[in-house]
Amino acid sequence: VSVTLVRYAGGAYPVTVASGARSRLRSWIDEHHRGRRVAVITDDAVRDALGSPVPGAPVFTFPSGEASKTRTTWAQLTDDLLAQHFDRHALIIASGGGVATDLAGFVAATFLRGVPWIAVPTTTLGMLDAAIGGKTGVNTATAKNLVGAFHPPQAVCCDPETLATLPDAHFRGGLAEAVKHAATLDADYGRWMMASADSIGARDTTTLETLITRSVEIKAAVVSQDEREADRRAVLNAGHTVAHGLERASDYSLSHGHAVAVGLMVETRAGELMGVTAPGTADQIAALLHALKLPTEVPSELKRDAVIAAMHEDKKNRHGEIHAALIRSFGSMAGGDSGWTQALDLRIVSQVLQPVR
Ligand SMILES: NC(=O)c1ccc[n+]([C@@H]2O[C@H](COP(=O)([O-])OP(=O)(O)OC[C@H]3O[C@@H](n4cnc5c(N)ncnc54)[C@H](O)[C@@H]3O)[C@@H](O)[C@H]2O)c1
Ligand SMILES: [Zn+2]
Repeated sequence: VSVTLVRYAGGAYPVTVASGARSRLRSWIDEHHRGRRVAVITDDAVRDALGSPVPGAPVFTFPSGEASKTRTTWAQLTDDLLAQHFDRHALIIASGGGVATDLAGFVAATFLRGVPWIAVPTTTLGMLDAAIGGKTGVNTATAKNLVGAFHPPQAVCCDPETLATLPDAHFRGGLAEAVKHAATLDADYGRWMMASADSIGARDTTTLETLITRSVEIKAAVVSQDEREADRRAVLNAGHTVAHGLERASDYSLSHGHAVAVGLMVETRAGELMGVTAPGTADQIAALLHALKLPTEVPSELKRDAVIAAMHEDKKNRHGEIHAALIRSFGSMAGGDSGWTQALDLRIVSQVLQPVR
């Protein structure tokens, strides 16, 4: 069992990581939020796999998948809550992956100008990334996560036992973010992950408790320093500049986790050629990704020009330059004197995207 406190300008909230935590949620709510009327928001697949985390409370569902993370679903859920006469004494419980916590968190952020909520993530990505940091929101036709609010939860409840039913691709995909945490900030964590790769893959709950806890601690430390992303939070974007290009160029057929795995490889190989990253770092990351059965190569059907073009569309670009958070050596970041990011040399990135085979 671990409890990590995430601090932000207006307060702090605990992230609990423990086998069986989901079954203890009801009594935790009775203790800390007595008098609130609970509404559970979850997707239909998670409801079928895991049921409700708060037995007896009304459950509001939406169809599983990224396509549901829209203003339309947000409006539907909000109207459903109003129809059931929820008011400012509501407490929203979000159960599911990053889609459910982003969406239900955004419903909570806007419902009667904001009601409290608790995140109960049920995916690896949700537990070690999406549910930590207070960002909520939905996608638009133009791009992902363009509309949203900063609305931290009251608590985050991570139960590794709930990962047992998660489809393999989703389970592995989330681990790419853990590799990112190790490769950017914690070499010891990377060594532990390498040694524990088999028990991680077997979803041993004790091993997963350790993994989720370490990643939560790393993300919590970064967002606690600067929850609004001006500066150090940029390190969490390692691998993501290229990953977003890969996702967009593939029309989102490549999952986020797999794109992050490959994005880390491309950015780190480019960093080595740019003279920013220590030689051999990309190979260390590749070894860890292999051990966790994550991809390291750009899918051959993706054209490098399409990936570069997609990278140019990113909302984070400044003055036509494409910036990335690059690794200095395994476990530490470069760019501490330039806001933790630097302009990518696109000729080098292009070369790395499509090596001569
Ligand atoms: N707010 C943030 O800071 C932040 C950070 C990273 C990612 N995100 C967001 O997270 C989203 C992706 O999250 P995700 O990868 O968890 O996707 P997801 O929520 O769509 O979940 C993946 C799939 O697994 C199913 N599922 C979830 N838990 C299950 C379980 N325990 N058993 C069986 N099936 C289960 C879901 O129904 C879904 O089909 C994206 O929208 C992304 O933008 C947000
Ligand atoms: Zn990510």
